[in-house]
Amino acid sequence: MSSIDPEKLPKHVAIIMDGNGRWAKKKAFNRIRGHEEGAKSVREIVRTSRETGIRWLTLYAFSEENWKRPAYEIKALMKLLKSYLKGELEEMLENNIRFQTIGRTGKLPKDVQETIRQTLEKTAGNKGMTLSLALSYGSRQEMVDTVKTLARRVQAGEISPEDINEKLIGSALYTADMPDPDLLIRTSGEYRVSNFLLWQIAYTELYITPTLWPEFRKEEYLTAIEEYQKRERRFGATSDQLADKER
Ligand code: FPP
Repeated sequence: MSSIDPEKLPKHVAIIMDGNGRWAKKKAFNRIRGHEEGAKSVREIVRTSRETGIRWLTLYAFSEENWKRPAYEIKALMKLLKSYLKGELEEMLENNIRFQTIGRTGKLPKDVQETIRQTLEKTAGNKGMTLSLALSYGSRQEMVDTVKTLARRVQAGEISPEDINEKLIGSALYTADMPDPDLLIRTSGEYRVSNFLLWQIAYTELYITPTLWPEFRKEEYLTAIEEYQKRERRFGATSDQLADKER
């Protein structure tokens, strides 16, 4: 039994799902089989998030850098993504899950874009949890797009350079309507953030585990949340200041 405090849940959990390839290699399967098994973890983690009461879940499903992978692997990942979205629609609707994406999704194959569009549309009114998939996502590219958006607004005379502050930048990022992640999980033991949500994770708690993504299931996810709940988040303040505030 997990001992999760429902009062102290992370509002937003973000996950770098890594290790599908290594899992497959360990089992002497091909890499595609690793991604298929990874998709099962995605299902379980989405379900567990909803059951636990997480309000925002963001999964790094395909990075800008992933376009460098062999064509057959990209094709298989796109196929898997499409079948995941089609297969999970029913459950998203039943469980009040809203689907959205962050990233340059215009680069994805047309049929995948169409499936995304339908899933967005059908789940748009759901309010229980927002599942965001980062697709063709890179944080630096997001910042480039954000700077362009703000530069255009300055050029159009809507804002002046002096108006640019953290809030305005936040509202021009892909994640404009999302709170910053409270907890970032990375599987497969790599101590990197790999161009994921760089602006947004300024004060995020990190949980890095050697477990490979296809083996990251409910039990360890709940452990990660428990671990998060033991941390003291100071946002630059001292422990004493935090204690004073609570008094
Ligand atoms: C990392 O494994 C994982 C990815 C490239 C993307 C994540 C994809 C999935 C979990 C599959 C399906 C996704 C959805 C949303 C249905 P890796 O290939 O980098 O592993 P390695 O570092 O061990 O080679």
